[in-house]
This record gives sequence, structure tokens and C-alpha cells, in this order.
Amino acid sequence: HKPPIVLGVESSCDETGVALVTLDAVSGAPRLLGQALHTQVAMHAAYGGVVPELASRDHIRRVVPLLRQTLAAANVPLADVDAIAYTAGPGLAGALLVGSAFAEALAFALDKPVLPVHHLEGHLLSPLLASQPPAFPFVALLVSGGHTQLMRVTQVGDYELLGETLDDAAGEAFDKTAKLLGLGYPGGPALSKLAETADPGLVAEIKLPRPMLHSGDLEFSFAGLKTAVLTKVKAAEAEGALSDVMRAALAAAVEQAIVDVLVAKSVQALRQTGLSRLVVAGGVGANRYLRQTLVTACQRRKAEVYFPELGLCTDNGAMIALAGLLRLVAGTPAKTAGGFSVKPRW
Ligand code: KG4
Ligand code: ZN
Repeated sequence: HKPPIVLGVESSCDETGVALVTLDAVSGAPRLLGQALHTQVAMHAAYGGVVPELASRDHIRRVVPLLRQTLAAANVPLADVDAIAYTAGPGLAGALLVGSAFAEALAFALDKPVLPVHHLEGHLLSPLLASQPPAFPFVALLVSGGHTQLMRVTQVGDYELLGETLDDAAGEAFDKTAKLLGLGYPGGPALSKLAETADPGLVAEIKLPRPMLHSGDLEFSFAGLKTAVLTKVKAAEAEGALSDVMRAALAAAVEQAIVDVLVAKSVQALRQTGLSRLVVAGGVGANRYLRQTLVTACQRRKAEVYFPELGLCTDNGAMIALAGLLRLVAGTPAKTAGGFSVKPRW
């Protein structure tokens, strides 16, 4: 019989994403049929961060055109959609409500079931859309703007939290230190780009802490790093030495400190679980230095490391559609459409 087609809607923060996924009729592997994405980054940039009310209003404006675009790209009529998945949380309440109300209403009108999806499960499963997907079980390093977690993923729906951040997320650490260095929002990609121009000799002279590196567990803490960078920035400013060269060196030093901790804990999680596959997901997974360092560290351990395609690292509808589809085929009962509820702090 025909594999199901699932529509996915993501609207938890500042990206509106819509996508259609199915399973390959021959191999059974997940396949992306089409997707459309709108990022609000430019709109929020002037405020130095996401403005929740503006985010909600923009999701409302974008979601219907994005659905039309997705259906056209996939060449799939709306009537062929078997179920609708949407991000139910965690995220901004108003932003989540847009996707939830849209998905529930559309499913009600089409008389199709809905699949409320946890945003992080979407990130976690996104590498399964790659051309060389990982097999279960694996360790997942989830590094986004809101979360930093290590998970044991045994199969779809079977996740064990191994460790997480006690304060700031890795992406937040990138964004906050980028702000201290006068870089725009979101700071992660900008900081990483600036770091590539740094003078290695100067970088080596900047000593930044590696929080929790030797804590013996799989917990993280990044708030102290931000304070350490602030101290260095203020000292350089006082000496009139906060040149572009110095800012680039500080950016590289921050990136190294964050990546050192992420890589060391990921390797420790592989050792602790005895697993030999590491999957990286979330926006920080787009960081080139993190990717290179993880590849080298995993080669040394004869472990394999998997990354989602760059375009699927940050928020998107495809990962939500995929999580819904995999839950559906794994037997998770879909919900009857109608009414809507979101879990901002899920
Ligand atoms: O997963 P995501 O799109 O949204 C959340 O669910 O949070 O992640 C966004 C985060 C931001 O903190 C952003 O600065 C960071 O991912 N990020 C990066 C890079 N690209 C995105 N951080 C470092 N280097 C990058 N290349
Ligand atoms: Zn995300």
C-alpha cells in the first residue's frame, strides 16, 4: 500500500517552515517531497533579538503562502496529505499558537489527524533525512539557541537524557559573546566567520575557561564563559586595544572554548554508552569548526559522526514533518483534529 504523506509546520521561534515528507516506496527511507521556509532574522535584527509579538504576527502572514509553495514544489495536492504534524513546544507561546491553530484547523477541514511534535525531537531526527542516514542506536548532541543536551537515542520515541546545560545553551553562549564583541544578531554565524580571520598566535595568548570540562558527568555550563569574555573585552577596551584583530582573536578563543567542551563531552558520552555513532543536531551544528573537530575526534575513536544537511540544522518544517511521519509509522496514535494546545515550556 501507499506510504503516508505527512505535512509538517514549524513556528516555535523566528522561522516559519512548512514541508511534506513520505517514505520511499522501495527502500522505506524517509524522503523530503518539498519544503518552504521563511526566516525572520532580518526583521528581528534591528532589536538585537527575537521580539515575540512580531514573530507571531509574521508567522500568521507567512504560513499560508508557504503551504502553497510547498504543495507546488512537491507537486502534491492537499487532498493527498494523510496527517499534519506541527511543533507543539517548546518555544514562544504566541508563535507556537499560530502553527498549532493553522495545523489543527487545516486538519479539521480536511478530516485528517494531527501529530503534535516536540521541537527537539524534530532536531534529533533531522539527520535521518540525509543521504547517508545513521542507524539506531546513537548518541545525539543537540546544540541549539535554547538547548544543549546529550541524548541516547535507541529508536524513534525512545530517548534518554544523558546530560544538559545547567544555564546557557551553546547557541546562547555564541550569541551573547558575539553581542559583547559588537556583532549583530544572531551572533553565532557572525562570530564563527570573524574567528576564521584570527591570528592563531594571538588566540593562543587568550586564556578562557572550559566550564565543566573535568566535571566527570555530561552536564554543561556556559554562563561563566560569557563573564570571562566580558572581562577580557573590558580590559582590552581600557587599554585601547580592542582592535579588529583583537576582536577576531577573542571570537576564535570563544569558539574554541565552546567547541572543546562540546567535543570532549560528546566523546565521553560515546565512551559511557559504548555506542559508536554520534549525531549532531540543532543550529550550532552548522558551525564549521565544531564539525571539523568532531570528525577528527570521532575518527580517533573509530566512531562515526553524522550531521544534518546544513539547511536542516536550523529550524525548519522538514524535521517536524519527519518526526510526525516516523511517529505515525512507529504506531503512535495520531490525535483527532480540533481544539489546539501548545506547551511553551515542554
Ligand atoms: O536550532 P536553532 O535554529 O534554533 C533554536 O531552536 O534555538 O539554533 C539557533 C542557534 C543560534 O544561537 C545561532 O547563533 C546558532 O544556532 N548558530 C551557530 C551557527 N549557526 C547557527 N552558532 C555557531 N556557529 C554557527 N555557524
Ligand atoms: Zn530549533
